[in-house]
Amino acid sequence: MMDGFAHTSVMTQEALQLLQPHSGGVYADATLGGGGHTAAILDASAPDGRVVAVDRDPRAVANARTRLAQYGERVRVLHGEFSNLPALLTAAGHSRVDGLVADIGVSSPQLDDAQRGFAFSQLGPLDMRMDTTQGQTALELIAELSESELADVIYRFGEERRSRAIARGIRRALEAGELATTEDLRMAVQRAVGRPPGSKIDPATRTFQALRIAVNRELAELEALMGCLADVLVDDGIAVIISFHSLEDRIVKHFLRGEPRLHVLTKRPLVPGEQEQYDNRRSRSAKLRAAKRVPRAQDDATMEAQA
Ligand SMILES: C[S@@+](CC[C@H](N)C(=O)[O-])C[C@H]1O[C@@H](n2cnc3c(N)ncnc32)[C@H](O)[C@@H]1O
Repeated sequence: MMDGFAHTSVMTQEALQLLQPHSGGVYADATLGGGGHTAAILDASAPDGRVVAVDRDPRAVANARTRLAQYGERVRVLHGEFSNLPALLTAAGHSRVDGLVADIGVSSPQLDDAQRGFAFSQLGPLDMRMDTTQGQTALELIAELSESELADVIYRFGEERRSRAIARGIRRALEAGELATTEDLRMAVQRAVGRPPGSKIDPATRTFQALRIAVNRELAELEALMGCLADVLVDDGIAVIISFHSLEDRIVKHFLRGEPRLHVLTKRPLVPGEQEQYDNRRSRSAKLRAAKRVPRAQDDATMEAQA
């Protein structure tokens, strides 16, 4: 791992077992992060398997370019959003891939860098953008939304029942000029709903999750990625999707079930083994789902049968 950019990859062995990378194959890593999954696929597909790896975070891209330099031409690292995967693959000279891995969400380096503003446990600006080169920060988004729109965001993306009171509290802090940092947001939520005695979970947890998802349009990105899977996979190509919360897993599950051009390989999601959960706390909420591209010759028949 690069200094200062350490991310422990989740469910790597399970992903490799499903992908079965082979020499000569072409693979996509839609969420490069620290580069662990990409490196594992490159190692498993030596001597000449290739990976096109994408991340919207310029820092992840820069770090991975250094970390993966040893693989030379076998890896292309691109800055971009995975909703744009077909165009990114084309830019890298490929129209389809033999396999794809997407490990959705934020990386440890993003969470751990206070300046990124993702974590309420660290003092930082209210930013939360994965791509720091564009888009609105969390503070700008809060300032733009009405109180009821903010409550809707907190309810939908945080599954937070007390969203109205929280939105009111945040709005009040903003208007009083007391909303600039992660700590200001945490305190605004705490003032609005209190902290149940003995509760280990900070009452701002769901609000932070909701704002992060909204700032990065995470669910729309995931839907767009799912929508292009059948187009970018070769016949019998495999997609492996790892997600970390129920909103994401629901999208993956429903999409895979409803896409006749994909054959679901995981009736139930795979979860990390006991040892991995013990070694890496952050892996505990991971769910892995996989699907195989139905050969194109069968597309019409499959669609007709499902109509
Ligand atoms: C959990 S980390 C991936 C870790 C990686 N699999 C590894 O082994 O190190 C998720 C990464 O996906 C990136 N990401 C999230 N949403 C994205 C999107 N819509 N487009 C491109 N990258 C995205 C984040 O910036 C983050 O670096």
